[in-house]
Parts: sequence; C-alpha cells; structure tokens
Amino acid sequence: MKLSEIAMSTAKVDVDRLKSIFKSRYGTVPLVVKSPGRINVIGEHTDYNGGFVMPAAIDKAVYVAVSKREDNEIHLYAEDFKQSHEASLAELNISEKGWPNYILGVVDQIIKRNKAIGGFNLYIDGDVPPGAGLSSSAAVECATAFALDQVFNLGFPKMELTDIAQKAEHVFAGVSCGIMDQFASVFGKKDHAIMLDCRSMEYEYVPLNLSGYQFLLLNTKVKHSLADSAYNDRRAQCEQAVAWIKEAHPEVSTLRDVDMEMLEIYVKHRDVDVYEKCSYVVKENVRLIQAAGYLKDGNLKALGKLMFDTHDGLSKSYEVSCDELDYLVDAVRAEKSVLGARMMGGGFGGCTLNIVETEHISELVKKLSEDYDQKFGLKLEAYLVETAAGTGIVL
Ligand code: GLA
Repeated sequence: MKLSEIAMSTAKVDVDRLKSIFKSRYGTVPLVVKSPGRINVIGEHTDYNGGFVMPAAIDKAVYVAVSKREDNEIHLYAEDFKQSHEASLAELNISEKGWPNYILGVVDQIIKRNKAIGGFNLYIDGDVPPGAGLSSSAAVECATAFALDQVFNLGFPKMELTDIAQKAEHVFAGVSCGIMDQFASVFGKKDHAIMLDCRSMEYEYVPLNLSGYQFLLLNTKVKHSLADSAYNDRRAQCEQAVAWIKEAHPEVSTLRDVDMEMLEIYVKHRDVDVYEKCSYVVKENVRLIQAAGYLKDGNLKALGKLMFDTHDGLSKSYEVSCDELDYLVDAVRAEKSVLGARMMGGGFGGCTLNIVETEHISELVKKLSEDYDQKFGLKLEAYLVETAAGTGIVL
C-alpha cells in the first residue's frame, strides 16, 4: 500500500455535489458547515474528571447543509444511512434510528436556553469513519449547533456551542461524555494540538512538530457493545471516589484535586477496584503535563513512551481496552520506527494512535494488516491524519 492510499483511505466529501443534492431535495440553497473529527495525543478519560486533555482536530469532517423552513418542522436526511427523519419543534422525541438524536439533542438544548428557532431542513454527510473513536457524533453535534446558530442568528459564543453539543449527547444519546470531543471539534487549529484544562476551560495551542514522523491511526473495526454503558460506569466510579474523599476534604470536587495519597487513605480500603480506576486518572494527569513539555521540546521519543504508558493504564487499570486494541499496540512495541502507540478515545474498539517514522509507514501497515487479518479475521484500516481547523462555514 502506498502512503497516498493510506492518507486517502476515506472518500472526501464533494461540497458542490452536497449543495446540489440539497437544492434538489429541499428547493433552497443551504448554508454548509464543516466540523472536524479529532485525535487525542494523550489525556484519556481525564476530561470528565476535571483534568487535562490534548486533542487535535483532523482533516476528516462532518458536513451539514441547513436552510430555514416556513413551518415548525425539522426535516433531516443522512447520506451515510440513506435515511430521512422528520420531527416537530413542538415535540422533540428521542429517535430509535439513532443518528437523528445528535441533531435533535442540539435543538433541545437551544430551546432550553430560551432561544427562538424555527423549522429547518438539514442534510448531513461526512468522511469521519463512524465507530472509529474519532468523534463523528461530536462533529455532528458541533456542526449542527454552529449552523443553527448562524441560520437563526442566535449569537452563542463558541464555548457555549461546545456546551450545547456536549449536553445534547448527554440527554439525547445517553452518554455522559466529557467536553474533549466537542471542544476539539470547535476549537481545532491546523498544525496544533490543544492543551485543555477541563477544570478551568483554559487552553493553549501546542505546535505539532512531528518532523519525519506522522500520526497513523489503525482502526480495529470493532466497537464492542459494552462501550457506552462502561463509559458511564467508569464515570460513576470516579464520582464515587470523589464523594468518599470529600467526607474528609470538602474542598475536593473532582479527581483533578486528588493525589495518590488521598486515594490510598480514603478509597483503597472501601473499594479496591474504584481505587485502581482512579489511580489511572490521577497518573494520567501527571503524564499529560510531562507530555506537553516533551512536545514543546520536540522530544517525540519521550512523548511516545508516555503514550505506551497511557495504553497500559487504560488497558490494565482503567480496563477500557479490548483484545484487538491491545494486539495492535503490542504489535508495534518493538518496532524501531514506532515511537508511541495507544488506544484512543472511550475504548472497547475504535483506533489506536501511533507516531511512526514516515518512511516506514507503508511496510508497517502492510505487515500489521496481514497479521491482524490472520488473528481476528478483520480488515485493518489505516489513516494518516493531518490536523485541521475547527468548525466553520464552507463557502
Ligand atoms: C469519549 C468522550 C470524551 C472522553 C473520551 C475519553 O471520546 O466523548 O469526552 O471522555 O471518550 O478520553
């Protein structure tokens, strides 16, 4: 496989075609908004614990085309599913089809914030591979929130758009996600990762100088059904630990305010499993601070080593990995051309993120694809990602 084939392994969206499909379906010219997927260099399962994350928006995105309607109806069409859905502003219900919820959830949030919107048509397409852990759902929410804000002149600041998108996921998709994915999608900047403090919401753009290396995503092509429920369970365990520690330290509000000693004293004797999970989170925040320093100094080797440590923590302590992810990380540990690798995102499937020397990428992907197919009977997909700007209008 050639490098260019790996980079292009998902079809790109043709915006002119998208506009003309919209016009023939709804009879009007739409506003088109693009919102990217994301990678996360390091800092996993830390966002909902008030910790640090380091995501970057990528060159795979969701596109929504939107126009106003004269009535109170919402007419949706998703190209990926070749499916339409209709709803009314007067009564928003969670849909069993799944995909409309990421849009309806945003509408619900806008209404809850006492902003007036009318009916609209919305057509959605994109090239973020679904189920790959690249936050396609956050990209849908952010694109929708941004587009509706523009079309109905709502005047939401960017930070509030991320909040609307996150709450939409909580209420209409039932996943108590943190803010990382939505934040990365809206605030992404080309050639930069974002170091975000999820407690203060302060952030800093960190230049990504990968000279001679690239980010390679390896898609396991699995998403184990446990993913959403386990995510909410982990979050509840972290909150349980905070509640125990709070009995003695009322000033503590998230695991960000907690250190290993507190976990030893207040959590370990009550529940060793909760202790183990929280120790991962506490250590991951420390790793992220180190990693940011390494990235700024251009020390990719040290950064890569921390990525492997993160993977081990996610796999053994936080227990959100799976055989397929562990296999792909283990397979590159001894490769000289790979500086670091880890599972990325919520877990139980999706992609591993690898930092690989450019000249060895093709041979590595070829070898891993064969081995992976033999072991799991699955076709590995590889994507070379470039970073990209955040949510915006496409002209
Ligand atoms: C999912 C969530 C994020 C974050 C990651 C794990 O992507 O949407 O908020 O918690 O998992 O780091």
